[in-house]
Amino acid sequence: MRIRLLLAMLFCTAIASAQPEGVNAHGGNIIKVDDTWYWYGENRPYRGFTTEVGVEVYTSKDLKSWEDAGVALAVSEEKGSPIERGCIMERPKVVFCQKTGKYVMLFHLELKGKGYEAAQVGFAVSDTPTGPFKFLRALRPNPGKWPANFSKKDKKKALALKQSDYKDWWTEPWREAIKDGLFLVRDMEGGQMSRDMTVYIDTDGKAYQITSSEDNLTLHMNELTDDFLGFTGRFIRIAPGGQNEAPTIFKKDDTYWLITSGCTGWDPNAARMFSAKSLWGPWEQHPNPCKGPGADKTFGGQGTYILQTGEGFIFMADQWNPRHLRDSKHLWLPITFTADGKPQIVKE
Ligand code: DGJ
Repeated sequence: MRIRLLLAMLFCTAIASAQPEGVNAHGGNIIKVDDTWYWYGENRPYRGFTTEVGVEVYTSKDLKSWEDAGVALAVSEEKGSPIERGCIMERPKVVFCQKTGKYVMLFHLELKGKGYEAAQVGFAVSDTPTGPFKFLRALRPNPGKWPANFSKKDKKKALALKQSDYKDWWTEPWREAIKDGLFLVRDMEGGQMSRDMTVYIDTDGKAYQITSSEDNLTLHMNELTDDFLGFTGRFIRIAPGGQNEAPTIFKKDDTYWLITSGCTGWDPNAARMFSAKSLWGPWEQHPNPCKGPGADKTFGGQGTYILQTGEGFIFMADQWNPRHLRDSKHLWLPITFTADGKPQIVKE
């Protein structure tokens, strides 16, 4: 099926500013292979929240007209499989691993019937960009590991926290304890939680997963192994207790920019922005990069990916429709830069 997408705005410079419609690929990303763009995302049902089909892939030669290339990663019909039909697959990201010549998909996986409690990362692999991808495993990252940005003193402080002292959430002492690593130590044995996520390949070819961890309270940046099929165990915490979801990232000149959302379920909220000179931090927070009417709600969207096209960057967002997730819309806006070099997302 060939879908002509409505271009709500101009596709003028190297950067697109468009609202493609009818593409059932949400929370995903886009890669380019030779002269073709591949858009991966959640195939969502008209009703309900669970995954009944899998991860869909669309192709395009111009980023405007998209063709449905089918299911890249299908749910399993096998009872008890981690990706059994009825699980929840969210925010799939596909990257090409130069070292192995394989396409690797990472995604947020929730197990069937368990709500959002599993908080795992799924790994799948394929020889071709359209798949079918083969599901390999699902896990929680970094069991038994401390963040690289934790000092000896930080560890001592975190280990001294007693879970039973913080039964009530959202109190001041609880907030302080979260920053100090209350949930980090809680989850150390079984691995850290991973929900909303993205994957970033640095200029040296190394790959990282950035994810909402610790019950969506703290971001983690997890280093991937050279084949992108697992974690090395090296990671950092970013914005402890800051409640960031929907991480998206890009690098311009010598600065990494991370744009996230707050945590309000399917409802839009104000975007947040952080920068760092090294992926390993320190990360510094900046004001909301969105400007114009609706900027305080990210124009009704929640980021999913930042697509680089030549010198330009496109902020891709989902305008969620929780009544009919399949019909959630796509909002793409160019990232421009202020005179002092800060990214901004402007919509008049
Ligand atoms: C917000 C997340 O960003 C989405 O991916 C999804 O997990 C919803 N929350 C579920 O409420």
